Amino acid sequence: MQWLVYISEACVAPQSADAAQIYLTARKRNQELGLTGYLHREKGYFVQYVEGPPDGLDTLLKSLRRDWRHRHMQVYGRGPLKSRRFPNWDMAFTETPNASFSMWLGGTAGEPPCTQTLAEASSETVLAFFDSLRDAG
Ligand SMILES: Cc1cc2nc3c(=O)[nH]c(=O)nc-3n(C[C@H](O)[C@H](O)[C@H](O)COP(=O)(O)O)c2cc1C
Repeated sequence: MQWLVYISEACVAPQSADAAQIYLTARKRNQELGLTGYLHREKGYFVQYVEGPPDGLDTLLKSLRRDWRHRHMQVYGRGPLKSRRFPNWDMAFTETPNASFSMWLGGTAGEPPCTQTLAEASSETVLAFFDSLRDAG
């Protein structure tokens, strides 16, 4: 089993029908692929943590790379995993300002940009952020 985290720029408005469709598809297809995880939206960026069999992650990556609803996808990290962080969540989701990655890292709201924050963070830090989302939810 492996985990994967990527960041991308959102091309759909928050709470739009196009955004809602992402979660509906993700929940259904992740069950088929054996994937679980968390999709976080912040300041125009998606940050997604996904875990499961490597084949499932590869299949999802192919789909994600041709999805017009986001762009400039950057895989932040991928690594081995002993047990799932989100065993019961096909794909959880937050876009509330009180679950902010940059605030969680100690930055001020609005600054620095989410991509920069993520690029500078260690993978332990990023994974700990997703742990905090799980524990809050
Ligand atoms: C930010 C974002 C996150 C997504 N997360 C998932 C996901 O976790 N699981 C999934 O099956 N599809 C997810 N999708 C949708 C896929 O990109 C894709 O549209 C869907 O899996 C159908 O694949 P296909 O177009 O290859 O048939 C996501 C799309 C976006 C834009």
